[in-house]
Amino acid sequence: MGKVDIEYNSRSVETLETMKRMGLLLVAVDPKGKPNAMTIGWGSPGIIWRRPIFTILVRVSRYTHQLLENSGEFTVNVPPQGLKAAVADCGVRSGRDVDKFAAHDFTAVPGRKVQVPIIGQCVGHYECRVVYRTHMARSLLDPALHDDCYPKGDYHTIYFGEILAAYWED
Ligand SMILES: Cc1cc2nc3c(=O)[nH]c(=O)nc-3n(C[C@H](O)[C@H](O)[C@H](O)COP(=O)(O)O)c2cc1C
Repeated sequence: MGKVDIEYNSRSVETLETMKRMGLLLVAVDPKGKPNAMTIGWGSPGIIWRRPIFTILVRVSRYTHQLLENSGEFTVNVPPQGLKAAVADCGVRSGRDVDKFAAHDFTAVPGRKVQVPIIGQCVGHYECRVVYRTHMARSLLDPALHDDCYPKGDYHTIYFGEILAAYWED
C-alpha cells in the first residue's frame, strides 16, 4: 500500500479530529539525524503568507524544542487508532531519557522534501520547514488563558512550518 500526495488541506478534518482524539506525532532530529517523536495536541494546518503552513506549539522545556531550534524542520504524522498507546507514551516520556523510535518500533522513512523522517506506521504526513517562530509573551496574552494554560509560566514557542509535502495512505 503506497502513500499518495494530497492537497495540504484535503485531510484537515481527519487531522484535527485525530489530534483532538489522541494527538499527532511530531518528529524532529538531533544534529546527527537521530529522530525523536513527541505527541502534540495543539496546532493546525492552515494558510498564512499565501502558503500552506502547519502551526505547532512547543514548550521550551521539551527536548523537541531544542531539536527544532537546531534543525528548523519537522514532520507531523497522523497515527492510526492502533498506535494510541504509543502516542500516549510519546506524550509523557522525553527523548532525553529514551529512544522513542526504538521503544515503539517506529520505522523512520526518509522525508521527501526535508531531512527529517516520517513515521512509516502512520497514515498521513506533513513535511515542514520552519519559516517563522515566535515565543509567547505574557504581556500579550489574555490573562484568562494564562491562568488556564500556563499556571507555571511554561510558555510555548509557536513554530510556523511551511508544508513542503503532504501525503496519505492510499
Ligand atoms: C495528548 C497530548 C498532547 C500534547 N500536546 C503538546 C503540545 O501541543 N505541545 C507541547 O509542548 N507538549 C505537548 N504534550 C506534551 C509532550 O508530548 C511531552 O512533554 C513529551 O514527553 C515531550 O517529549 P520530548 O521531551 O521528547 O520532546 C502533549 C502530551 C499529550 C499526552
